[in-house]
Amino acid sequence: MINNKKDIQKLIDSMTLEEKIAQMYQLPGQVYDFYSDRESGPVTGPEGLREYTQDLLFNVGSVLNITEASTARKIQKEYLEQNRLEIPLMFMFDIIHGHKTIFPIPLGAACSWNMNMIEESARVAAREGSVSGINVTFSPMADLVRDARWGRVMESPGEDPLLNARISAALVRGYQGSDPGAKHNLAACVKHFAAYGAAEAGRDYNTVDMSEYRLFNYYLQGYKAALDEGVKMVMTSFNTLNGVPATANKDLFCDLLRDKWDFQGTVISDWDAVSEMVYHGYSSDGSEAARQAVEAGVDIEMVSQEYVNNLTELIEEGVIKENKVDQAVERILNLKYELGLFADPFKFFDEQGEEKYHLCEEHRKKARRLAAESMVLLENNGILPLENNISSVTVVGPFADSGEILGEWSAVGRAEDTVTLKEGLKNQLSSKAELHVFSKIADLNKTQFGEIVSRVKESEATVLAVGEPQNWSGEANSRGRITLPEKQDRFIRRLVSALDEQESNLVMVLFNGRPLELEWYSENIPALLEAWYPGTEGGNAVADILLGRVNPSGKLTMSFPYSVGQMPLYYNRYSTGRPRGYEPGEEHYYSRYIDMPNEALYPFGYGLSYTTFDYQNFALEKNELTAGEEARVTGEILNSGDCKGQETVQLYIQDFEGSRVRPLKELKDYQKIELAAGERAEISFCITEEMLSYYCEGKYIVEEGEFAVFVGSSAHDLNECGTLYYKKS
Ligand code: BGC
Repeated sequence: MINNKKDIQKLIDSMTLEEKIAQMYQLPGQVYDFYSDRESGPVTGPEGLREYTQDLLFNVGSVLNITEASTARKIQKEYLEQNRLEIPLMFMFDIIHGHKTIFPIPLGAACSWNMNMIEESARVAAREGSVSGINVTFSPMADLVRDARWGRVMESPGEDPLLNARISAALVRGYQGSDPGAKHNLAACVKHFAAYGAAEAGRDYNTVDMSEYRLFNYYLQGYKAALDEGVKMVMTSFNTLNGVPATANKDLFCDLLRDKWDFQGTVISDWDAVSEMVYHGYSSDGSEAARQAVEAGVDIEMVSQEYVNNLTELIEEGVIKENKVDQAVERILNLKYELGLFADPFKFFDEQGEEKYHLCEEHRKKARRLAAESMVLLENNGILPLENNISSVTVVGPFADSGEILGEWSAVGRAEDTVTLKEGLKNQLSSKAELHVFSKIADLNKTQFGEIVSRVKESEATVLAVGEPQNWSGEANSRGRITLPEKQDRFIRRLVSALDEQESNLVMVLFNGRPLELEWYSENIPALLEAWYPGTEGGNAVADILLGRVNPSGKLTMSFPYSVGQMPLYYNRYSTGRPRGYEPGEEHYYSRYIDMPNEALYPFGYGLSYTTFDYQNFALEKNELTAGEEARVTGEILNSGDCKGQETVQLYIQDFEGSRVRPLKELKDYQKIELAAGERAEISFCITEEMLSYYCEGKYIVEEGEFAVFVGSSAHDLNECGTLYYKKS
């Protein structure tokens, strides 16, 4: 019996080398049938390439992708009957934005800027996942992103390090609670360490090469915040970082993660990433890859079998010391112990819990609230919100009545459990209202198109339910063009030209996983709502916003460009020596494009509301800050419109001068507040020394000098509150 960590040491002493190495292997779950179908002899992996021997099957440390309690129970039982030392299996899965009840994609959820709701979404996901027998989720994904071509931006919190950090921490709190082994909790795994989001040209799996200055000041905060919150596992990334694959990168894993940051938990490779070091041309063969990954401190190899095939020999030849393997196994077994698996290997398999919690009312409600709060109103000429007693609505487009609005990485969520936009509207429109739906808009003949135009003209409002098919974002779904699909674009332009500007009642609702080029629509369509992939309750949540039951409050966490040619695009870029933007008639030799602005079409932090907020009298209380002190900036926000609304008030700081060139501005804090119509609130931010610091040559420093302080409603809409002079004494 394992009752404490000392017992784990004894257990390791009693294991054979092969048993230890098998603990370091993670088996992809698609082969779970083989556990119960052993008579059929040696088994073959998912790609028909790998062989799983009986020995390996019944000694592996963990399995990936088992998603139901009944299957997991069967596997655990079979496994324990065969495993000599009765060490329980650990089950892992990617629960990224919900398990059965799917929440909006992470990029959408981030736009809520609502850490309580984000944490709560992880709690729900943990409850639903844990009753299905899952012990570890491969989330949070903390990769900072600046390039909308990359398909995995949908999994990320966006382009800002501060938000990235707060969201990672909130997710870890939500999954793990105060004890990842307690009922309804999961252990979390932060990924992909490190800087996977900076894949060159937005092409998945591509090279990352960046200075330490950039890495520390932008890219690492998200992972670090998860570690500070006690995350139990870290996953390596597929990319190289400065010429070394992350999976064997000792600077990252030994010097930084283990030594400097003192991470005691478990490190897992990404899928096949150990083997792939051979394709990188970094390892001469699988054996070298195994050695390099073990030396970097990768405890678990996911899917590829370089450890299983090579470690015994490497140890026998003295290339690797056995204690390296022992350390890895200790971390793996510690995790099993912390999860309570030794005490009761079956405690997480809860079929009744699945019945009770999966898609339950409470979880759906939470998903709906976060979905509505993640939506960003990009344009509105006043057409929204639609009148409560609206008599006719037409919905046009492929997402009009589709459950395919969960987004990639939606675990075991299903389209058939999802509320479509049509259903959502039906639920809320008055029973007398007419609702016409046209899901097909591609390749219409004249008559079909004419029918839609007549309906549109007869309706009080028309919702264009358009966007990217779900599998256009997510892993391996990078795009070189970030436009709407061509057929949708053609239809929209045809429809717009068939309507007089005065009679245009179009509202565009976008379902997509990345920032898109929206300039033409912004000029030609009265209202644009970014709905992302909103999840299981998506249709209800969109209807909540369209009909004004919920006042939109989402703010973008990733810049929307004029054109893909601006990529990478982000608000917190460094100053240049030729800083002026594009203004006709200005001199030629400036850092700019000659055919479009430098700035985003819709910047970071941007999002409209059905009400308006006035920022008044924001000013610094003092203009000097001495080391060890704090300064305050205060002002008032007035809800100057005629309905209740939420505003995210943002604090930015610019460091004018430093030993390194500093960003034009950086988000340092924010407050999300709710005000009734006509209500005002005093807002106060505390400016700390830490907010003025940055990473430079191995440490965080604060330098004497001037800092500008801004408060506003987006990175482009800021009120200057004065200048703060920081001095050391
Ligand atoms: C992805 C990871 C994921 C893993 C397991 C990989 O392809 O990069 O994010 O956790 O698969 O599903």
